[in-house]
Amino acid sequence: MTEQDFIPEKYSNLIESGSVTWESPSNIALVKYWGKKKHQIPENPSISFTLNECKTITTLTYSKKESNDYFSFEVFLEGKKKDDFKPKIQTFFERVEPYLPFLRDYHFKIETKNTFPHSSGIASSASGMSALALCLMSVEKLYNTGNTEEFSNQKASFLARLGSGSACRSIEGDLIVWGKTDSIENSSDLFGVKYPYKVHENFKNYQDTILLVDKGEKQVSSTVGHNLMHNHPFAEQRFAQAHNNLNTLKPILETGDLKNFIALVESEALTLHAMMMTSMPYFILMKPNTLEIINKIWRFRQETGLHISFTLDAGANVHVLYPKKETRQILEFIKNELVVYCQNEQYICDQIGFGANQINE
Ligand code: DP6
Repeated sequence: MTEQDFIPEKYSNLIESGSVTWESPSNIALVKYWGKKKHQIPENPSISFTLNECKTITTLTYSKKESNDYFSFEVFLEGKKKDDFKPKIQTFFERVEPYLPFLRDYHFKIETKNTFPHSSGIASSASGMSALALCLMSVEKLYNTGNTEEFSNQKASFLARLGSGSACRSIEGDLIVWGKTDSIENSSDLFGVKYPYKVHENFKNYQDTILLVDKGEKQVSSTVGHNLMHNHPFAEQRFAQAHNNLNTLKPILETGDLKNFIALVESEALTLHAMMMTSMPYFILMKPNTLEIINKIWRFRQETGLHISFTLDAGANVHVLYPKKETRQILEFIKNELVVYCQNEQYICDQIGFGANQINE
């Protein structure tokens, strides 16, 4: 498929007004997207678990307006006007307009809320942009009724990607691949696809307890970080490694090989941060408590033989990953030994989820 396939036929008879609500989850990458080309095309493939509890809920209210020579929208977070969200949405509208030609015909009210604290340092761009893309797809469906569900999901993912790369992995679950790579059939740079191969029971209901180590604003945004992969001394090796890791992950997922899963996922997390530390300018997003937690996880794993591991996003928070059947002991360890390293002892218990849902009012 190409971008052209997402350009719809001309619409006739614009509907006057309406409203639609979607909830869409966040996701956590196992093989990380870090580095992008023009038009939000990733430099390397990535794969993520869709989450279940960390979600954005967005209501889009649309009403036809007189003039169609500008975008018109207002944004609210938990009922409060958020003008500082507008530039990102303006850019998103500009990018997706060729694929949603009705955008200038309406005034939009975007009302959004998260199930997790906004200032938790959890990326709300994946859940937020995917929820908005799905709301816009619902408007489009009023005009193009003939699309298959598969096509609609692909287009929602395609649009979400243009808002924030990782958002394209939040439309469906439970494992999503984004980025063309030889080892995964039908993988695409344009949108996320469901991981198409066998996945062992060990990885069903996998748990993710998110330790909120630092809730402050990040010193460096993901977008700036991605751009620092241009002219990065290790870029080519890193991109090749991501392709290899996806290939390596296939037999691991199929056979339920937890030991090698842990090694691959932790190595990916540390490589992501190593890329940040070796870019120019360089930066460190981990905090002392991030390292305390990692060391405690390693020690606990060695002592108990349990399959606890961690991954990191572009920030200081730690995602603690483990199989469902080890929940009791691992959660006890988290509560007794790791929560002290969290800001205000805050953490979120999440697990693998199955993607976004429309909410009918
Ligand atoms: C470290 O999707 O937030 O979480 O495309 O610029 O919006 P933009 O970046 P974003 O980057 C996420 C990077 C990551 C790794 C990942 O989720 O794969």
